[in-house]
Amino acid sequence: MQGLEITGAKTNNSSLLSWINMVAGLTKPERIYICDGSDGEYRSLCDDLVASGTFIRLNQEKRPNSFLSRSDPRDVARTESRTFICSLNKADAGPTNNWINPADMEAKLTHLFDGCMRGRTMYVIPFSMGPLGSHIAHIGVEISDSAYVAVNMRIMTRMGQAVLDVMGDDGHFVKCLHSVGAPLAPGEKDVPWPCNPENLYITHFPEERAVYSFGSGYGGNALLSKKCFALRIASVMAEDEGWLAEHMLILGVENPEGERTYVAGAFPSACGKTNFAMLVPPKGFEGWKVFTVGDDIAWIKPDEEGNLRAINPEAGFFGVAPGTSTKSNLNAMMTLTKNCIFTNVALTDDGDVWWEGMTDDPPAHLLDWQGQDWTPDCGRLAAHPNSRFTAPIQQCPTFDPEWDNPEGVPIRAFIFGARMSKHVPLVFQGFNWSHGVYLAATMASEATAAAEAGLSVRRDPMAMLPFCGYNMADYWNHWLNVGRHLANPPRIFRVNWFRKDENGKFMWPGFGENMRVLKWVVDRVRGRGYGVESPMGFMPRHQDIHWEGLVYDPDKFYELMSVDRQEAVKEARSHEELFDNFFDRLPKEFIYLRELFKSQVWRSPKVWELARAIF
Ligand code: GTP
Ligand code: SPV
Ligand code: MN
Repeated sequence: MQGLEITGAKTNNSSLLSWINMVAGLTKPERIYICDGSDGEYRSLCDDLVASGTFIRLNQEKRPNSFLSRSDPRDVARTESRTFICSLNKADAGPTNNWINPADMEAKLTHLFDGCMRGRTMYVIPFSMGPLGSHIAHIGVEISDSAYVAVNMRIMTRMGQAVLDVMGDDGHFVKCLHSVGAPLAPGEKDVPWPCNPENLYITHFPEERAVYSFGSGYGGNALLSKKCFALRIASVMAEDEGWLAEHMLILGVENPEGERTYVAGAFPSACGKTNFAMLVPPKGFEGWKVFTVGDDIAWIKPDEEGNLRAINPEAGFFGVAPGTSTKSNLNAMMTLTKNCIFTNVALTDDGDVWWEGMTDDPPAHLLDWQGQDWTPDCGRLAAHPNSRFTAPIQQCPTFDPEWDNPEGVPIRAFIFGARMSKHVPLVFQGFNWSHGVYLAATMASEATAAAEAGLSVRRDPMAMLPFCGYNMADYWNHWLNVGRHLANPPRIFRVNWFRKDENGKFMWPGFGENMRVLKWVVDRVRGRGYGVESPMGFMPRHQDIHWEGLVYDPDKFYELMSVDRQEAVKEARSHEELFDNFFDRLPKEFIYLRELFKSQVWRSPKVWELARAIF
């Protein structure tokens, strides 16, 4: 490939140039283009995508500068079974990750990538995760043969020439190589969504700090800044360097007196981070404001004073579409009015988008996410359950300008939430840092469509099961260790918006009403709120929650907060099962904490009545 011209943005970074040449030599693209991140470039790439049939331009009146894309039905979500951590030592990937020996994987990848970009443009996409030049931020470069990836990366990251300028001639970057794995023979017509599901590999080389992804064009499999770099590789960097890379939203909540408190929240995929990050305070919270810093990923570092400060490394939302409505998430709907990319949602007859839950009544006719005619009685979903929008964060009405603060925002609480229809109360607080880490590590959650995974309920420690790039037990030790060095460790909470009654109905109204829980969290952090000591942790009584604007009966509340003792016994036992997998590296704290929990479980019935109902 000697002599292939490099067009687009300019760089003299020698390691980048030699990597570009090396990759081009292997993958044999038709053209090489370095993205400059400009508006003009974005427009022209979108025009190309419309011309090639990957994009459908939406009605420019209703949804200006926005596009719909339909994926191959075999390529609709992250594929955890094809995701690998190729650490030198298998034990460093740990029992929760798929592992392949790096030398074997490299050989396989070299074979797969050989000629894989034939007939395509190779896009070089320089991006910064976090404010340009922030000491918490890091730079990556994705090389991809997908223009769809390039335009999504423009929304999801700070991307283009400015990043190359910060990198300079010898700046470091994380290598992220991606191919849809569908080379074109001379004259062969492309398909709208090229991919290669038979040869899928999402691979991470933690020691090399590199990502190689082959065969998928969808979401976290292809937008390598996101889960691959900002979580799997960054979690390893964070362990080495003493910080945290987490699957967390970041929000600020301001009371009518103007006191602002930042919290970060970890919830598994499709369990409400986006909704929570843009929460609309409900009736009874006049004068309260919520500020959105991020909805998916947080990079968190201790500062000189021993506080934790967080940045959102991303610049956009890649959010779950179904269920999003003006009722459930007004701010998201307002964010989506222009300049967005929609993937796998339905198309209305007037050229707009629709998905399940957007309106009470579905339109009489649609084209579904696969482009088929759809009517309300056809028995199929109009939008894929993991259909997504890509939207610039600055368009969110609650966008917090602190998002661009290179120092990050101070985090006062961590909220860990899962999707559990049974047994897990609405909210409780860990007794201290190590107990909070234990509560987060033992979190379990029910399956969603965000991942092609398996089990209906699974342990998902810190909502990081699919995203921790190293041994989960080492990760727990790292969390405990970070806490040891903090002057003001954030308080740690567990929440569950998803408990259901015997008729299968959600017991908690959720969405904006989650503000009531958030206020109790803030009150606790600020030393104002009361919490009863229960076997699980500190819990609010009915009178400790601000109920103005909502009638929520104390009996129902205590049902929502109740824990069944037999279930708690089972739970304690299954923590042992979880920990057995990590016997060689398990934090010793966890063994004592489990024993403490078990002894609490056998406390007198009175204590349980306390936790159950009486307070
Ligand atoms: P990823 O982007 O996949 O990491 O997920 P996320 O955590 O940002 O997911 P998102 O906020 O998009 O979650 C979407 C799902 O959660 C939809 O099914 C919503 O209806 C549901 N959801 C969000 N908040 C609530 C809530 O307070 N109560 C209930 N019952 N459902 C909620
Ligand atoms: C998730 O699955 O947690 C997501 C979407 O945020 S993806 O980027 O596809 O991983
Ligand atoms: Mn996510």
